[in-house]
Amino acid sequence: MQDSRKIVILTGAGVSAESGLGIFRDKGGVWTKYDLNEVATPEGFARDPVKVHDFYNARRANAATARPNAAHFALARLQSDHPGEVVLITQNVDALHEAAGATAIHMHGRLDRATCSACTACWDAPLVMSADDPCPKCSAPQTRPDIVWFGEVPQAMDVIAEHLTTADVFAAIGTSGQVYPAAGFVAEAARSGAHTIEINLEPSDVAGMFDAQIDGAATTSVPAWVDSVLNTA
Ligand code: OAD
Repeated sequence: MQDSRKIVILTGAGVSAESGLGIFRDKGGVWTKYDLNEVATPEGFARDPVKVHDFYNARRANAATARPNAAHFALARLQSDHPGEVVLITQNVDALHEAAGATAIHMHGRLDRATCSACTACWDAPLVMSADDPCPKCSAPQTRPDIVWFGEVPQAMDVIAEHLTTADVFAAIGTSGQVYPAAGFVAEAARSGAHTIEINLEPSDVAGMFDAQIDGAATTSVPAWVDSVLNTA
């Protein structure tokens, strides 16, 4: 019988780690080098917009040269070849899922997009943004990266909630499960009857919330999991 289960996948920094983009929390992670209150909050931006733009300009430059890895390509293959719906939700602000050919909901925004704090216009970010850049729509010099900062509401939450309640399978890949609301998705999906699976380098602190666990680097564990779902192993 054809497997047409709806699969909802949440990805985190671990999926892009082997593309050379840093993770946040483990040894050497971004938040061990930078104070997130200074560079990833609306208050930090109000205090020092130059510092915040410098931080994201550096990350944008990194992301612009990164290439999708085998995990991104495997998830794109799952999305195109699985007979049922495959919804990809990412906390990542890089565009590597898209570069691999997938469509993803970016709940924490995107590095390659800019937005205006004054009129909420949104446009493609230049490689280097500055605090003085005028908004192309209203001219206010209040442009910022289209990134969801701590204390702000993630994007597309109503759409995501609908997907979680209709998921047959929920997989969290390469995420530490430390940041809400994404960390609560496994419980939401499980409440609606989904089978839940964590795929991570090692069991995360919230591994106990999942029905199943696959350990290993994303570039090997994700293609193997996709093969097993598509029955192509
Ligand atoms: P974290 O840095 O918190 O967690 C990354 C997870 O990936 C960890 O559990 C690692 O064990 C795992 N990991 C590392 N390398 C891996 C690999 N090669 N293969 C598989 N797994 C690997 O990153 P996130 O959970 O994505 O938000 O962080 C969530 C949010 O916190 C981010 O979106 C960001 C951050 O603050 C904002 O900036 C708003």
